[in-house]
Amino acid sequence: MDKMEAQDREPRQSDTFRSYLARETKPLPEALRAPSTIDLETVNVPIARYVSEGFASDEHEHVWSQVWQMACRLEDIPEVGDRLRYDIGHRSVVVVRVSQTEVKAYVNACLHRGRLLCEGMESGKELRCRFHGWTFGLDGRLNSVLDWDEFPHVKRSENSLPEVHVGLWGGFVFLNFADNPSPLLEQLEVVPEHFGAWHFDQRVKTVHVRKQLRCNWKVAIEAFIEGYHVIGTHPQLTPYAGEFEYRQFGRHVNLMLGLTGVPHPKYRDGLTETDIFTAMNRDFPYGADRDVPEGKTARDIAFETMTATFKAMIGKDIFELSPGAVDYEILDMLQYFVFPNLFLFGGFQSPIVYRILPGPSVDSCTMEIIIMPISADGQEHGRVEPIELGYDERWSDCPALGDSALVFDQDTSNVEAVQAGMRASVRSHTQLSLYQESGIRLLHDTLSFYIDEE
Ligand code: FES
Ligand SMILES: [Fe+2]
Repeated sequence: MDKMEAQDREPRQSDTFRSYLARETKPLPEALRAPSTIDLETVNVPIARYVSEGFASDEHEHVWSQVWQMACRLEDIPEVGDRLRYDIGHRSVVVVRVSQTEVKAYVNACLHRGRLLCEGMESGKELRCRFHGWTFGLDGRLNSVLDWDEFPHVKRSENSLPEVHVGLWGGFVFLNFADNPSPLLEQLEVVPEHFGAWHFDQRVKTVHVRKQLRCNWKVAIEAFIEGYHVIGTHPQLTPYAGEFEYRQFGRHVNLMLGLTGVPHPKYRDGLTETDIFTAMNRDFPYGADRDVPEGKTARDIAFETMTATFKAMIGKDIFELSPGAVDYEILDMLQYFVFPNLFLFGGFQSPIVYRILPGPSVDSCTMEIIIMPISADGQEHGRVEPIELGYDERWSDCPALGDSALVFDQDTSNVEAVQAGMRASVRSHTQLSLYQESGIRLLHDTLSFYIDEE
């Protein structure tokens, strides 16, 4: 190893999340204290995992058929009779609000000749097939058959729609296709405990954008699971985004923590607090640009602005809603990746959720960005249908995403080029860093767990 390389490999000493927390004197919530419980060896990932139709069918057969997956929010089906279609691979499900307190999911296929029963976001007292008009109750029972005397062999008692397991947490509806799935809360691992003070059940979806991407679903996930790409892909973030910390809890949850208002250590020199604030303000608006007064930091100003905005938005103080909340929960990025495909932002900084789903081919997927702020008491938003963006449209073509769309466009400019590059590559594997890409190793380790277990 030459001298330059040796220097580059010295352990980093910098303003990481960990070093901030280590100096902290105030009580911290469990989410910030919980140590990583997994330490995986570095491995190379076979490129076949991203380009092979065989591997994609293994995923459908052994992973998507076994895991809890987020299908929708409860506010997508607010009234009894509201329903929504959820597709994964060749499977299609209709998720139905059966009563004020109950949600059920049925295989989305008519028991006559198999037509889809639900094609999007729909409502009604019963499910009526559009082909020949058979109807099913919200409880899945066959209600009526046109010219039933033609079907003496079709018994009502034998013709209820097959059910798919449903689990609810935090206002989300999860589905599981397994015959006897393990409990949803087991798969969510630390999430229910960590998210207790962040009130996901009081959040309401206000924006939902779905974009088609020309890459494997894991390529899209991996673009968001590490911060190693920030310098190369999002240079505009380095004045206020430092190094990230990564923690893994069990097989299914990876947490990436990022400080806001602390420059990347390689780009800190010469920056004033006003420079830092101006850079933050461009991507995540904190109001008008301003000079940071002597004795204050960009973080201080962002904190004041965030708490005031929050109060204006929900009509109460953030500390009333979440007693004991600390600045890290209000300002910083606490990004949880929940296997197989859900990103939840903890705390109050970013009310954002991402979901990434495999597409019809191994080279395609969809990515959704959902914005779900905490709702002011009694505020109604109605059902929010996704805004659809095609392969060649940009996130920034969607004004509802605001200025942060630039960051998503930068990320998605990589993912399609990664897929094409992997197709062209003559190497059999990609190579991962020890620490900063540990979340990708966990993702692949967990995929292997499901695929090899069978
Ligand atoms: S396929 Fe549904 S009624 Fe015929
Ligand atoms: Fe990114």
